[in-house]
This record gives sequence, C-alpha cells and structure tokens, in this order.
Amino acid sequence: MIKRPRRLRSNPIIRELVAETRLAKDMFIYPYFVVKGKNIIQPIEAMPGISRFSVDELVKDVAIGLKLGVNKILLFGIGEDKFEDAHSAHDEHAVVVEAIKALKKNFGNDLYIITDVCLCAYTTHGHCGILENDYVQNDSSLEVLAKMALAHAQAGADMVAPSDMMDGRIAAIRKKLDENNLVNTAIMSYAAKFASAYYGPFREAADSAPGKGDRKSYQMDFRNGNEALREALLDEEEGADIIMVKPALAYLDVIRSVKENTLLPVACYNVSAEYSMVKAGAKANWIDEQKIVMENMYAFTRAGAGIIITYHARDILKNGWM
Ligand code: PBG
Ligand code: ZN
Repeated sequence: MIKRPRRLRSNPIIRELVAETRLAKDMFIYPYFVVKGKNIIQPIEAMPGISRFSVDELVKDVAIGLKLGVNKILLFGIGEDKFEDAHSAHDEHAVVVEAIKALKKNFGNDLYIITDVCLCAYTTHGHCGILENDYVQNDSSLEVLAKMALAHAQAGADMVAPSDMMDGRIAAIRKKLDENNLVNTAIMSYAAKFASAYYGPFREAADSAPGKGDRKSYQMDFRNGNEALREALLDEEEGADIIMVKPALAYLDVIRSVKENTLLPVACYNVSAEYSMVKAGAKANWIDEQKIVMENMYAFTRAGAGIIITYHARDILKNGWM
C-alpha cells in the first residue's frame, strides 16, 4: 500500500497540521432576547443558560460577555404591544431601540450590534408580515419592515438582519437606509430560511408563534435546495452583505451550495431547538456537551459557513472549548 490516509492521523501534531477547517472566536454571533422593564432576568425553560433580559440587565451581561470575546450580538425585542399593523416594531421607544442606545452608550464600537428585523413579535396574529384576507401580504409588509430596520439603524445598530422572508425586502430595506444616509449599516439576510420545527423553543421565548396557521406561505419548504440557492442569489442582487442559512444542522447541504455560489460571506443560524436538544441530552448525561457542540461548530465551518450564530457561543468562549 502506497496510499495510507492514516499516516496523517498518526499523532496530534500532524492532525493539527492537516486540519482542513479552523474555528476562531471572531466567527461567533450571540443572540439576546430583550424585554421592557427593569431588573429582569427571566430564564427560558427550554433553553437552559439563555434568559430574557431587561435593558439594564442586558448591559451588565454584555459587559461580562465582552470580556470573554462575545463582541457581536443579535438582538430580539419581545413582549411589545401587538397591533394589526405592527407599528410597535418601529416605535422610537421600542425595547430594541432602547437596548441599542444603551449598549452603544456603554460600549461604543467595542460591541457590534445586529438586530433581527421581523414583524412576528409585533403583530396580533404572530405572522411575520401584515395579514389581510388570511394571507400574509408581501408588498405592504415591506414598508413596515423597512421602517423597523431604519429605527434600529438610526438608534445605532451596525447591521440589520431581516428574518421575515418577504420577497424584495432586502432591496426595500437597502433603499430606506440609503435614503437616510445610513449607507454603512450592513444587511445580513436570513436568505434561505426554512419553515422549521426547530424554532419551537424560540417561539416560546419570544412569544411569537402564529396564532393561526403556519409560516409555510413565506418561509421555505424544507424539501427544496435549489430554491434556497435562488433565494440567496436574489438577496445578493438586492444588496445583501451577508447571506444566512437557517436552521443549520439539518441544512448543511444548503450552506455548502450557497457557499459555492456566492462571493458574499455565508452565515448559518444554529437555532433554538438545535441548542435545546444538545442541552437536554447533556443534562441527561446521554452525550458529552463539549464534544457534541464542537463537532457541530466544525460541521458548520466545513459546510462553508464563516459566521456562526449560536446560543452556545458564550459557553464555548467561557469554557475555552476551542
Ligand atoms: C423571527 C425569527 C425566528 C427565529 C429567528 N427570527 C422564529 C420564526 O421564524 O418562527 C428563530 C430562531 C431560533 O429558533 O433560534 N422570524
Ligand atoms: Zn418573524
């Protein structure tokens, strides 16, 4: 035998040398849930280690995270008043807007703030857009989403991340930001976002489950890979700066095909149920949490993601798992 693949596995040093993928702490984005009020830290039952924070507590927690290297965060505002037209989503006193201002005041450019832009936490029915005749309306949702993105950007968000899956929203948001001279506010598109049961714990955390029906008329059918690529390429044309695939674990093939077909940075979102399942398995002592988490992180990287949004980020950095 001349060809012996095991030769390059024979000791830890050579294994390090030939490793095809690397992880760096700069690759991680850590999500946060923000609520109105003061002194609130509400653990989310199905997501051990993750809580809802009021702005004052958020600032304290982010300060701790920053010391560990958690300097990119993704904010979700929850518990706002809900309306048919979702106008609370772009209110100047929306909790996300208040959070952005407080964080920027405390941490300036040491912290990179990304905000989720979607209407589901602000509509009475819990859908991600404006509902009329039992159908989530595309074009009338765009203006509201653009206003929401603008409110975040004006408050100081560095990047907005639309997760609604309406057609044309990247172009609508880019236009709105540019008209307001916010040319450097970046857009990370949840470009290929699937209608997934893996968002279950998140919807409990964010109280954003649709009251009636599902999200299948706007989020993608998980049987489709070509369509995911089409979504990604459309968002690139519309001016997205980063393309995201979501969920991540069951969609590694999609991450790979997007990576091979775009020159933009590719991100993946390791979503709530992916996190909850690992935590549950670890709690029962059925799996080794550190090993499982790191195997998952390398899988995302190997598939082609250069950016990983994950609830595990804080544990990884705190415990030195890398
Ligand atoms: C809002 C949104 C969702 C998630 C991110 N943004 C829920 C959904 O679309 O139902 C899911 C995140 C997670 O599960 O961790 N549209
Ligand atoms: Zn939504």
